[in-house]
Amino acid sequence: MSQYTGVALVTGAASGIGRATAIAFAQEGCTKISICDRNLLGLQETQTLISEISKDVDVLVIEVDMLEESQIDNMVKKTVERWGRVDYAVNAAGIIGNNAPSTQTTAAQFDLITNINYRGTWLSSRFEIAQMQTQTPLEWGNGKKRQKVRGSIVNIASQLGLVGRPDAPAYCASKAAVIAFTRGDSIDYAKDDIRVNCVCPGVTETPMTQGEPKFREALKPAIDIAPMKRMGTPEEIADACLFLCGSGAGFVCGHALVVDGGYIIN
Ligand SMILES: NC(=O)c1ccc[n+]([C@@H]2O[C@H](COP(=O)([O-])OP(=O)(O)OC[C@H]3O[C@@H](n4cnc5c(N)ncnc54)[C@H](O)[C@@H]3O)[C@@H](O)[C@H]2O)c1
Repeated sequence: MSQYTGVALVTGAASGIGRATAIAFAQEGCTKISICDRNLLGLQETQTLISEISKDVDVLVIEVDMLEESQIDNMVKKTVERWGRVDYAVNAAGIIGNNAPSTQTTAAQFDLITNINYRGTWLSSRFEIAQMQTQTPLEWGNGKKRQKVRGSIVNIASQLGLVGRPDAPAYCASKAAVIAFTRGDSIDYAKDDIRVNCVCPGVTETPMTQGEPKFREALKPAIDIAPMKRMGTPEEIADACLFLCGSGAGFVCGHALVVDGGYIIN
């Protein structure tokens, strides 16, 4: 039997890491998945890809803008209206932003990066935790392996929340903030049997890293520094997210799991 018997919610699910994570939940036997993003067309493509894996998966498509608190609240409410609970939430919606140093970054550009990557992820996690607190825990395993979990949240940060790189001060700061609030939330809600962790991807092959040639060029040194000397795939990041949501990570709390081909240790 699948260990993912509960309800999954994935933001940023129209593309890249979020899409790969929603698909991975379906591949691992999860049959109730909310896919959430501001890009409706992309969400519909993700829905089609999931339906090709299994007809047994019920997919709820939710159009949501991470800049709008009421829409994020509704995202969780719509999921609960459909299935009564949220067991695994992976918050992957995010932007790279303007790729410029601070003196060439306007306050509006800073606010946009901060409000989507930090505030939007925090709001998602906040509404998900509030829902999880109201639900009865899922239990599995026997004896010493017995686990009781009311919910598990994975926020997508970045290797750039831990180390710096040129031309990305606002992005780096937004991701450091995600790591920091994840730790705070994991401490506050462990007593409720809610686990909150984050994943820090390295350079990953998604539409985010396939943009302008100048940006792709700027990523090359980061790929060369990583001992594995390649980009990660969105599926490899999704694997880490599912691990943190699953029973194998039952004692993992407030962790920032770096999945970067070794970039930050080199
Ligand atoms: N690709 C990488 O190299 C990399 C590395 C480290 C961290 N990340 C992080 O991983 C996450 C996923 O990125 P990705 O690489 O899959 O990029 P992506 O561009 O393929 O996907 C990001 C998704 O977020 C959605 N999104 C952006 N702003 C939104 C908003 N205001 N409201 C709702 N949805 C919004 C987009 O529509 C898109 O579907 C991001 O948080 C990103 O910062 C990516």
